[in-house]
Amino acid sequence: MNMSIRPRRLRNGEILRKMVRETRMDASTLIYPMFVKEGTGIVEEIPTMPGQFRYSVDTMGEKLAALRDAGISSVMFFGIPDYKDEVGSGAYAEDGIVQKALRQARKDFSDMYLITDVCMCEYTSHGHCGVLCGHDVNNDETLKLLAKTALSHAQAGADMVAPSDMMDGRVAAIRELLDGNGYQNVPIMSYAVKYASAFYGPFRDAAGSAPSFGDRKTYQMDYHNSREGIKEALLDVQEGADIVMVKPAMSYLDMVTKVKEAVKVPVAAYSVSGEYAMIKAGASLGYIDEEKIVCETAASAYRAGCDIYLTYYAQELARYMKEGKIG
Ligand code: PBG
Repeated sequence: MNMSIRPRRLRNGEILRKMVRETRMDASTLIYPMFVKEGTGIVEEIPTMPGQFRYSVDTMGEKLAALRDAGISSVMFFGIPDYKDEVGSGAYAEDGIVQKALRQARKDFSDMYLITDVCMCEYTSHGHCGVLCGHDVNNDETLKLLAKTALSHAQAGADMVAPSDMMDGRVAAIRELLDGNGYQNVPIMSYAVKYASAFYGPFRDAAGSAPSFGDRKTYQMDYHNSREGIKEALLDVQEGADIVMVKPAMSYLDMVTKVKEAVKVPVAAYSVSGEYAMIKAGASLGYIDEEKIVCETAASAYRAGCDIYLTYYAQELARYMKEGKIG
């Protein structure tokens, strides 16, 4: 057979396949999302996310050390407070759970990069991502509280803040308050393209943040929409977002690619709790090979164009990268 172009020639052996590989990954681009909870001595497995735990401030150090040893330098804190109220005051309390975790981690893990999720839903009695006016979330009133939350995180030692609420104008509001208080150098990673997704189910279990009525569809995006995601990303960049995120990752890789083409800032993809839970469940039944699926899933997000990958599998992925199984 006379064929001058044979694609298989470049697949002949692992050395050559690695040489011509188009997608490269390393652990410096991974962020591990971590749940910190009020109390002491807590290492509590999350039932819907086997292998993931809620930690109290006094126990989280063990996990942070394990992450650091594995080559993960960046974590994102989610807080699980004891106390909730209508206005989510625990989110911006000086002795709030995230603020306490930050101060401790800042002291014990000065070489790690600490990011915080900025949102109200874990702190409001109604579970919505902002303050209510009737049954509706009041956008502009919420902005003040989100900005206050971000500032209190920066004051407690956060290196970066990541607003996940999907209120209009939050990036500008946060940027303004941070700048006004001398935190010009704290970057904002905005959850810019965040869809109203059933993939957050296990997280809401983990963080106790499910809305007590209604849903999040008046602020999170309709998953039928694509151009609207570009609008959100561009708007956030215009307001001062340093990094924009697409969330969830797996079912939204088209958006990762499109956002990457549309903006000039780094793009993050968040492989959310439901993605983790599906892989865990499938693997525990013996239906799929966990390690191979985790590698393939991660590679697909990077191939789609993400620069940064948030995943509950960060520690395992760092190991797979080191072992040459991926990257
Ligand atoms: C807070 C927030 C959520 C997630 C990240 N930040 C939940 C939600 O929007 O309901 C989801 C993360 C995950 O599912 O892993 N608003």
